[in-house]
Amino acid sequence: MMNTKIIQEIVENKKNGLSDKEIGERLGVNLKFIEKAITREMGVNVSNPLMSKKKLALVLTPKKFTAETTTVWSFKSRGAWATHNGNYRGNWSPYIPRNVISRYSKKNDLVVDYFCGAGTTAVECKLLNRDFIGVDINPYAIALSETNLDFEIPNGESAPQITLRTGDAKNLDFIRPNTVDLICAHPPYSNIIQYTDKRNGDLSHLEYKQFLTAMGRVAQESFRILKDNHFCAILIGDMRKNKNVIPLGFWTINKYLEAGFDIKNLIIKRQHNCKTTGFWYNNSIKFNFLLLAHEYLVVFQKKTAKVNHGNRKWNVIAKFDQKDLMKNVDLESTTVWIFLKKDWVKKALSNIVKRYASRKYSLLNMLSSENQDLDLIIANYDENFEKKIQKAKKILRPDGILAVICEDVRNSNDSISSGALDVERFLRDLGEFKIKEVIVISIEGDDKKNDSAGNLDITHKYVLIYKKIMYGK
Ligand SMILES: C[S@@+](CC[C@H](N)C(=O)[O-])C[C@H]1O[C@@H](n2cnc3c(N)ncnc32)[C@H](O)[C@@H]1O
Repeated sequence: MMNTKIIQEIVENKKNGLSDKEIGERLGVNLKFIEKAITREMGVNVSNPLMSKKKLALVLTPKKFTAETTTVWSFKSRGAWATHNGNYRGNWSPYIPRNVISRYSKKNDLVVDYFCGAGTTAVECKLLNRDFIGVDINPYAIALSETNLDFEIPNGESAPQITLRTGDAKNLDFIRPNTVDLICAHPPYSNIIQYTDKRNGDLSHLEYKQFLTAMGRVAQESFRILKDNHFCAILIGDMRKNKNVIPLGFWTINKYLEAGFDIKNLIIKRQHNCKTTGFWYNNSIKFNFLLLAHEYLVVFQKKTAKVNHGNRKWNVIAKFDQKDLMKNVDLESTTVWIFLKKDWVKKALSNIVKRYASRKYSLLNMLSSENQDLDLIIANYDENFEKKIQKAKKILRPDGILAVICEDVRNSNDSISSGALDVERFLRDLGEFKIKEVIVISIEGDDKKNDSAGNLDITHKYVLIYKKIMYGK
């Protein structure tokens, strides 16, 4: 139970301009408690209860905007044009909906965001002249969206039609089937941040298994309302429990695939709010975990013609020799490793060995019958993967690490097959390994390919880290 007096003191201190840190020190409470108190008192999870005032002289476009062309997106500043601001906790950078809306819809199209929050997508639709329907479980968030939409477009083109309503993304009955041009939405990441004071239907109070069931329902509604061949973009991140990742991103993607969607693009959105030096860097090494530094922006497509891609040929790393390992490689501390095209293999493998192998390890296809009791096996995801895993599990010591390097590839019909999703599914079903990390390698310095179909250039790979399960432990 929260004490009413302390809640009021928190709100008063906030209104007097104290930072969360100062309030925490003064009242002896942590950030989570402050968020909870503000959400209870104000009905909405905002960092500043006084903000969201109408701005006077608004700059309506970003200073510099270039459409993203690769599968790794990174916005150093969140974007502050029009009424955009970071006050609503967990809202997304307006660069994300701007890119999605510009690439996957056209003027006067109808866009839906069923996790509307404080209206970032809504504001972008108003600026880019798309009709919009926004839904949120929290009426206070809808009220914030209304405030944020309260600005004039000078020399106006015809103003788009914008509809906001309180509702549940699991039930979009008021939208007819096959009528929506684009879905662009950002769900809660299970219960990492709470958006309401436990309002009925709020997904942000569900632990991850219930959350995924609910997202399955949302995915079905998305498939129903979207026009054929149109797109649905969802931003989702992973969670961490103790020292292991919970791959909420992959599992949410699977729910959309089960609903019938194909993947058009699987984009890595880098996060810049994580600490890569000092305390966090040291702890990441001491306790052997990586700081989550990425989310997935997945663009699904409701394809009408299904294609069987047959057996894919995967081959992420063609050839690698143990003597190429670097002794003095810098140890990475987050889940995004940025390397140059010319030496990414060397740096990635050296990092894996330095972090996970204290004694014996083996690389890729070099397993031999003399190898026993290994600390680490690094496997390439290729057509012999399943066979190799059967062998690997015998010669890995209990608690040993399996690192799998894999990638996404584009099919002949422009959809994406994800090796990472395949590996995760296969090893989960096998039940002999527990996933520990999902690492993304962003490969820079490549020449941009000009894709006539307007597809994003795939510039990332994955390393999935697993621990062999010790039975009876
Ligand atoms: C990550 S936030 C979205 C932030 C938004 N993109 C923005 O920039 O303001 C997730 C939102 O989902 C809402 N929400 C949670 N459960 C919901 C449900 N069942 N249906 C609709 N909205 C829900 C929360 O109230 C919260 O506003």
